[in-house]
Amino acid sequence: MAVQVVEHPLAKSMLAALRDATTAPPLFRLIAKRLALVLCLEATRQMPTAPIEVATPLGTTTGVRLAQNLVAVPVLRAGLGMLEAVTELFPEVTVGYVGLERDHATFEPSLYYSKLPPLGGRAVLLLDPMLATGGSAAAACGALEAAGAGSITLLSVVAAPEGVAHLQALHPTIDIVTASIDEGLNDQAYIVPGLGDFGDRLFGTE
Ligand code: PRP
Ligand code: URA
Repeated sequence: MAVQVVEHPLAKSMLAALRDATTAPPLFRLIAKRLALVLCLEATRQMPTAPIEVATPLGTTTGVRLAQNLVAVPVLRAGLGMLEAVTELFPEVTVGYVGLERDHATFEPSLYYSKLPPLGGRAVLLLDPMLATGGSAAAACGALEAAGAGSITLLSVVAAPEGVAHLQALHPTIDIVTASIDEGLNDQAYIVPGLGDFGDRLFGTE
């Protein structure tokens, strides 16, 4: 498992705005999308390309085309805040959905929805901004692996060390790209300092 923390100053400043408790949903949504653009670019840095010949107005040269069609899978609800970034960067992306909700008492995730395209050997970008206990991400990875995913990269806004360790133990081949690894979890399994409940802040619910 490779874990990459994106250190770009722009990513750090956007993360600070998301953490800010006074950032209201309209701005939160905008910044979440912009930060997801950065995470997505980092996550796809090594994606395969194939050479092509390009005719410019002045001659010919070689360029590349993307040699792989990605699959993006947002974890409902919060992962929806990252999806538009991926579809804008990769308009040909195929999109599947996994719905997971954490129980407020046990923190165990339950799967309430799954709609995945054929994954046979394909590269999946799993979109879930909060990696807390890691239960939700592990459940999502389980569903993706069962459906035949070739590789999985989790795009996370904030991760807790506990969640990284849990995911590493259960799904050692997945990669993580995140804007931060925070201090840890509180007794409600929220990430500290974190940013609160991402889904609530994205959609204006409580
Ligand atoms: C949040 C978040 C992750 C999960 C992380 O979802 O979006 O999916 O919690 O927690 P974990 O690592 O401890 O499993 P939540 O269950 O709050 O649902 P929501 O996105 O619909 O608000
Ligand atoms: N889910 C969130 O949205 N935030 C956390 O801190 C933990 C789980």
